[in-house]
This record gives sequence, structure tokens and C-alpha cells, in this order.
Amino acid sequence: MHWYEDDALWSDFAPTMFPPARAEAAADLVGTSPLLDFAPGSRVLDLCCGPGLFVVPLALRGYEVTGVDLSPTMLERAGGACARAGAEARLERADMLTYAVPGAFDVVLNVFTSFGYFNDPEDNLQVLRNAYRSLAPGGQLLVDVMGKEVLAGWIGRPQAVDLPDGSYVVQRDVVLDSWRRLRTDWTLVRGTSARTASLTSWLYSAAELQTLFEDAGFTDVECFGGFDGSGYDHRSARLIVRGRRK
Ligand SMILES: C[S@@+](CC[C@H](N)C(=O)[O-])C[C@H]1O[C@@H](n2cnc3c(N)ncnc32)[C@H](O)[C@@H]1O
Repeated sequence: MHWYEDDALWSDFAPTMFPPARAEAAADLVGTSPLLDFAPGSRVLDLCCGPGLFVVPLALRGYEVTGVDLSPTMLERAGGACARAGAEARLERADMLTYAVPGAFDVVLNVFTSFGYFNDPEDNLQVLRNAYRSLAPGGQLLVDVMGKEVLAGWIGRPQAVDLPDGSYVVQRDVVLDSWRRLRTDWTLVRGTSARTASLTSWLYSAAELQTLFEDAGFTDVECFGGFDGSGYDHRSARLIVRGRRK
């Protein structure tokens, strides 16, 4: 099994990855970000939607939202979040490596570092090709990751996150293959027991991800440093790449 197929990983580490504060931040971004301001009624695919942090506010904003994820537990959580919020969205279990519905969407979103998970670089390119196929002409893809340049600025600092139930997570990042890939080792400590997990994904500089978009057929490819639409530079917190299907 590849690490990203481990359903228990996503649920065990959910309190770190998907805390209530992130849900609030996602709702805020959907209301304010110029990058998430789509034409009314747009058909939006949230690829690797997780527990629906973006699905809910996007649906409440009136977009026709489809959330796709490989994890049954994450989809169940997304369904629960939609029900609680009174948001309508279609949720589907699928692998981003193969998921494509020709011309079905105006927007494809892939956010919070949900890209670059496959060992074979061709497979990651295939994900972009699938997104391209799934877009109607004029549609756009947005991918939001931690850029290689940004990561280089803080990697190596010890990171520990305290969780509300008294448990905590320690994170250690290991650069692999001359900065091509990153392994993140997590240890969740609860009382006297510890659970570990390792996530390995490709790291992209802005130029590398831009080229990958172009290789997949996208045009007008632009890089941003955050959902506020700022340019990608030394102050950026994220790397967001946007491309269009002609
Ligand atoms: C870091 S989480 C981000 C979730 C969500 N985008 C967010 O902003 O909270 C990555 C998600 O990708 C999903 N995932 C991992 N591999 C996948 C694959 N091959 N196809 C579809 N989803 C996948 C995981 O189940 C998880 O929910």
C-alpha cells in the first residue's frame, strides 16, 4: 500500500491537518480570495477534498461542487460537514491518478498540498492532464502546495503541535533526492502510546510546477504566493499555480 492510500493515516492525523481553525480559514478564503471568485453557478471540482473544508463554503456560495477523495473516512466527514451546514455537494470516491470527466467542470481545485504524491513523476503529470480533460474550454485549474523555495526558508526547525485532547504531534522533514522530494515524518503522542506515519511527496519550485502545467496543456499559467493573489516571492507562505484550458 502507498502511504496516501492509508485511510487510518488521514483520520489519525486529522486533528492536526483539519482543525476547526482551518475550516474557518477556508470559509474566509472562499468569501474573500480573488483566486476563488468564480462566475456564478460555476461547476467546481475539489480534487482531494478531504473532510470538505472547502467543499462546504464553496457550495454555500452557490457553486455546483463535486468533492473527490480516495479516503472513505474523509468523504464520510465531508458528507457530515455538508449536512450540518445545509450545503449541497456531490461527493465521490476516486483516485486522482485516474479521475477525469471530460469537460465537466469550470474550475478544478487541488489545495493544501494534495499534489505530487506519486513516486513516478509521470503520474503527477497525469493528474494535471486529467484535470485538463475534466475542464470545459476556458476553465481553470488551481494547485496550492508548499513551494520548494518557501520550504527551504524554514525546514529543519523542530515543529510540535499540541492538540486539544492533550496529545501532540511532532513533525520532522527530510529532504530526499537532491531536493526533488520531501519526506515528512509525523509522530502522534497520546499518553504513553505513539503512532508514526511518513508522507513522501514531490517538491516543486514555482518554475517547475509552471512547466508541469504547460506540459499538461495549460496556458496563461501564473504563480501566486497566497490566496490573496499576491506574487510568489520571498514573503510567500504558499505556492499557488493557476492555468487555463483554452
Ligand atoms: C493534505 S489532505 C488535503 C485535503 C483538503 N484538500 C484540505 O484542504 O483540507 C490530502 C487529501 O488527499 C486525499 N488523497 C490522497 N491520495 C489521493 C488520491 N490518489 N486520489 C484522491 N485523493 C487522494 C487524502 O485522502 C486527503 O483527504
